[in-house]
Amino acid sequence: MKAKTKVAALISGRGSNMEALVRAAQDPACPFEIALVLANKADAGGLATAEAAGIEALCVPSKPFGKDREAHERAVDAALRERGVEVIALAGYMRILTPFLVDAWEGRMLNIHPSLLPKYPGLDTHARAIAAGDTEAGCTVHLVTAGVDEGPILGQARVAIEAGDDDHALAARVLKEEHRLYPAVLAEFVRGL
Ligand code: GRF
Repeated sequence: MKAKTKVAALISGRGSNMEALVRAAQDPACPFEIALVLANKADAGGLATAEAAGIEALCVPSKPFGKDREAHERAVDAALRERGVEVIALAGYMRILTPFLVDAWEGRMLNIHPSLLPKYPGLDTHARAIAAGDTEAGCTVHLVTAGVDEGPILGQARVAIEAGDDDHALAARVLKEEHRLYPAVLAEFVRGL
């Protein structure tokens, strides 16, 4: 049987998408394993979740690097390579990447974004969809390229925006779909490597 592809999940906070990937990877038939969970903030809640699941949880704090985002990325990149990571899954990783990391992992770094890209890249996606009067929202898994939230789309899931939805209600409905979409798209992606 082909060895499972080693994936690192990069997080900055709660890490519920990372958790969904970890859960999916527990299925023996899953073609990927979560080899590492890496956060840029020590207080990222997802670090404890990963540890509890028996996965290495590493913090490479961005703060000490100040404005030198590339130097931080070089430290992250070294940690990933030391562990033989093959694919990066950004999962609520709240850093704008420099060309260094984007180029180093071209075609091997995925992200999940809580909108139907190309609509609403960036932040506050749910409030923006509601304010625009949209009738549907959703989430997108895409390859990471230089432009923020701009890379080739690998998969999307849609949800209805219901009358009376505020951004919290909509975010919760979209998040459920994120947790289904990301493991499915990542599995398909690594099968194609
Ligand atoms: C998710 O909505 C994801 O789409 C976005 O940031 C949020 C992270 O949530 N990129 P979590 O940390 O995975 O719970």
